[in-house]
Amino acid sequence: MTDPQRYLVTSALPYANGLKHVGHLAGAYIPADIYVRYLRAQKRDVVFVCGSDEHGTAIPIQAMKEGTTPQAIIDKYHVAMKEDFNDLDISFDIYHRTSSPLHHETAQEFFTKLNDAGELETKETEQFYDEETKTFLADRYIKGTCPNCSSDRAFGDQCENCGTTLSPDELINPVSTLSGKKPVKRKTTHWYLPLGKHEKFLREWILQQHKDDWRGTVTGQCKGWIEGGLQSRAVTRDLDWGIKVPLKEAEGKVLYVWFDAPIGYISATKQWAIDNNKDWKPYWEDKDTKLVHFIGKDNIVFHCIIFPIMLKLHGNILPDNVPANEFLNLEGDKMSTSRNWKLEMRDYINDFVKKDNGGGQCVDMLRYYLTQIAPETKDSEFTWKGYQDAVNSELVSIFGNFVNRTWVLMHKLCGGKVPPLHMDILDDNDKTLIADIESTKAEVQSAIEYYHFKDALFQVIDLSRKGNQYMQKKEPWIVAKQTTDNSPQSIAAQKSIDNCLHICLQLCANLAVLINPFLPNTAKKMIYMMKVVDKMLDWENAGKLKLLSVGYSLREPQLLFRKIEDTEITEQIEKLKAGLVNKTTKMEETKSVASKSEIVYDDFAKLELKAGTVIACEKVAKADKLLKLEVDLGHEKRTIVSGIALHYNPEEMVGKQVIVVTNLAPRKMKGIESQGMILTAEDSNGKLQLLTPENPVTPGSNVS
Ligand code: 2FM
Ligand code: ZN
Repeated sequence: MTDPQRYLVTSALPYANGLKHVGHLAGAYIPADIYVRYLRAQKRDVVFVCGSDEHGTAIPIQAMKEGTTPQAIIDKYHVAMKEDFNDLDISFDIYHRTSSPLHHETAQEFFTKLNDAGELETKETEQFYDEETKTFLADRYIKGTCPNCSSDRAFGDQCENCGTTLSPDELINPVSTLSGKKPVKRKTTHWYLPLGKHEKFLREWILQQHKDDWRGTVTGQCKGWIEGGLQSRAVTRDLDWGIKVPLKEAEGKVLYVWFDAPIGYISATKQWAIDNNKDWKPYWEDKDTKLVHFIGKDNIVFHCIIFPIMLKLHGNILPDNVPANEFLNLEGDKMSTSRNWKLEMRDYINDFVKKDNGGGQCVDMLRYYLTQIAPETKDSEFTWKGYQDAVNSELVSIFGNFVNRTWVLMHKLCGGKVPPLHMDILDDNDKTLIADIESTKAEVQSAIEYYHFKDALFQVIDLSRKGNQYMQKKEPWIVAKQTTDNSPQSIAAQKSIDNCLHICLQLCANLAVLINPFLPNTAKKMIYMMKVVDKMLDWENAGKLKLLSVGYSLREPQLLFRKIEDTEITEQIEKLKAGLVNKTTKMEETKSVASKSEIVYDDFAKLELKAGTVIACEKVAKADKLLKLEVDLGHEKRTIVSGIALHYNPEEMVGKQVIVVTNLAPRKMKGIESQGMILTAEDSNGKLQLLTPENPVTPGSNVS
């Protein structure tokens, strides 16, 4: 595979509706930053873009919560997020914003081109309308009871309690969040992107061309979408916050936020080009550009299915890879803004980074831990104890210790200068370590290029571990006891010390180059200690053994990392729990139902749960998410409508055993009376999994 001429790397544009947490950082920002720093060290032509996503209903909703205007919200959070990324050394070439006129123009031009080419369809549908505020209600503006879990924290797009994806029609007792009134249905026209027309392209491009080089979690999700039947997606909305649809007949309508946001990558590149007197076009039009999107798993469908179709229709290049990460949990639970169970970047910055005196060691310590636990293939977990262990037992005790003892010994036993290497006395230990230094570069490089950042970082730390083991075997501090005179034994002992510290110093120089993409502040400190210029960190220097010249005098060592004390982590855990308590208290005061309250057994006993066998199943017309099932419950058969159509095909349902709540009051969904509810659980990919008996049971069996 030849190297591309240039790279365009993107990180998901965060919504400007609140501060972002370390889960976001681990998912889409640190990995992209590592990749970009590595490419820059290779002197590649690379542009790294990001910016604030400032449209969509999330913004006016936050404005309502904070009692201010949407404009004030985006201005506040755009600046705050930009600052946080900067404080954590995420090295965007540009951090743009989608409220900029340049972005509005770019997104409108994009829409116009697709519409003029006949690639969009219009459709009239009925939508919920709030007669009091005279507004069509976006999905998020409708609240009601979840058909899946009966929580009253369900919105028209998703249930906050059980996470099920919903459509407004599925909500029980829907009300407008704007007026609190029951909405009515009104006709409205929207523009749709017919995804189904592009199924063949998607199958070839994702499921064949990229079946081996994209992460399995990514192609797996795409396969689910493709096989589930690709429905047309509305790309316009009846809202007053967003980018105006550039058509006379679309008065009062804006582009759907997920239509405009990814175009934000293009407008950010344009702004970068203007600021740097460059041409943006090759980055989006020349096939010799490698486009890589770093995102979290909740953004996969938009970056792998919808945006690529838009790019193809618009004549742009397609992403070469979309290394999406899974989610990062925190101390045994999902991170959640609504429950205040999170570690915001800003909190870490205030509690650790700001106390660093600008050395960046706490930035690197967080970057280290988040890379070490990166949820590359499955959800992973941030714990304060894990953070403390990673810092104290790896960064401090292995990497930091190796560099420090090399420096101290070099000052003590070699006069503060790089000692010579005596080839005539090289032993097997020397040769093995030299071979390790030479071979690690290729391993780290290949891991980074396959987006295995965790593994790449492990290789670097492992090399420092080998350095420690080598030092332990050579024991120069013991050998030094033999260097008392000019005897041949003394001279031989000094030569052995020289070799050990020469190799260790060259190893340190290598470690600086290798660690630089991951922990840039550490690399910077190391080159200061070595008294060399930044250029030494060029990737081509990795694997070389003559980075430091013999006789060159080096500075005194600096502490690369500091230990994390027990008290610090205890404080953080208490803070986290206190945040949750405060939030819960507040919620109870406002009578909001954050999570379900405790019940007694008698409440539970009111539920009638039975196992049944699905004997027939079909899709419900005009409802993407619903399946109609006939379930055999032994003494009776029931019709059940369930919101699992995005997760199961009708054919695969037949014959399966399911658990049914049989004494729920029947209710109509899309004109069909549903006579029960099927139980499911959500897996880490957001897919609903049926709850089913481990071994077949007789239909109608009681579940308890
Ligand atoms: O999920 C989110 O936070 C979105 N704001 C990500 C947008 S990514 C891109 F398409 F802009
Ligand atoms: Zn629910």
